[in-house]
Amino acid sequence: MSTDHGINTIGVIGSGQMGGGIAQVGAVSGFSVVVFDQSTDALAKCQALHDKLLARAVEKERMTADEATAAKDRMTYVSDLNYLSDSDIVIEAIIENADIKKDLFSKLAEKFTGNQIIASNTSSISITDLATSVGDAADRFIGMHFFNPVPVMKLVEVINGLATRQETTDRVLALSTAMGKVAVPANDRAGFVSNRILMPMINEAFYTWMEGVAQPEHIDEIMKLGMAHPMGPLRLADFIGLDTCEHIMEVLAEGLNNPRYRACPLLKQLVTAGRLGNKTGHGVFDYSK
Ligand code: CAA
Ligand code: NAD
Repeated sequence: MSTDHGINTIGVIGSGQMGGGIAQVGAVSGFSVVVFDQSTDALAKCQALHDKLLARAVEKERMTADEATAAKDRMTYVSDLNYLSDSDIVIEAIIENADIKKDLFSKLAEKFTGNQIIASNTSSISITDLATSVGDAADRFIGMHFFNPVPVMKLVEVINGLATRQETTDRVLALSTAMGKVAVPANDRAGFVSNRILMPMINEAFYTWMEGVAQPEHIDEIMKLGMAHPMGPLRLADFIGLDTCEHIMEVLAEGLNNPRYRACPLLKQLVTAGRLGNKTGHGVFDYSK
């Protein structure tokens, strides 16, 4: 495949719920995809989920069995960063922590000195700040923010850093379209547009629960039936990951310099207890059954 984005191979770093979804959509859209994770266990889970979701797509007649097999064959799962050297773009989807992301980006910029685009799927962290870790590669660094579940949600929020060059943005816009998504630009402020608005609502739902205004299931029911949200905010927090929600609130509080964005103590307490939501089987709600 060669179009004006000039991208044939997509490297994805992090094979969790977002990285796995980005990889799947990339492969279904005809790209070769190399998925890297530091955890072999996470890679195995990601591959098993791809098998399951693609089988479901065939069952639902959204693709043929041959198309599903071809998509699977386009994905490679690796635990060595060097295998990303042939990628035309690398999309990072690891933990929402600026220091850990920067450490990874500095390694990438050292290893891959060509014209490879480095994109972050960060939910909230400043792209200009992350780009300080890649030196001269800052002009090919960009925010490419997908939404969960990636195979279903149409949006990609595209965020330029101060040094991002126009060619990088144009190629990422074209790539988003080729992946069947709608790209919408946002400026580089903490939380961009999406999480500046969504996450304080979720945080407020935790305060509402903590203050005993209503039980979690009632809070969710009110927002679903009264506001036509597909999921209530507490169920959505479990779906996103409570650790990710807490990290995003921390970035908002610091980046927007306003205490009203502090993470609710109850949200923090659940994270401390390891109740991270769907991914650990228990968050606000219990999914073990
Ligand atoms: N991967 C792939 N497909 C999935 C999926 C997943 N993880 N989860 C659901 N789907 C598909 C299902 O396969 C189903 O399609 P088929 O029936 O054709 O197979 C379709 O989505 C609907 O799923 P369900 O019938 O199981 O359930 P539903 O109707 O309740 O929809 C939902 C599930 C799409 C997740 C819906 O509840 C929803 O839209 N929730 C809100 C999601 C949302 O707000 N996402 C944004 C989170 S914020 C974010 O991403 C940014 C950030 O930085 C934190
Ligand atoms: P996740 O916990 O499901 O997966 C993260 C993966 O990254 C894990 O498999 C982990 O092993 C791997 N990882 C962690 N550190 C690593 C490193 N240094 N090198 C390689 N792999 C590493 O997380 P997620 O929900 O997929 O979120 C990933 C990113 O996407 C975060 O920045 C998050 O803010 C963002 N995001 C999340 C959502 C969401 O709804 N969960 C939506 C949009 C964006």
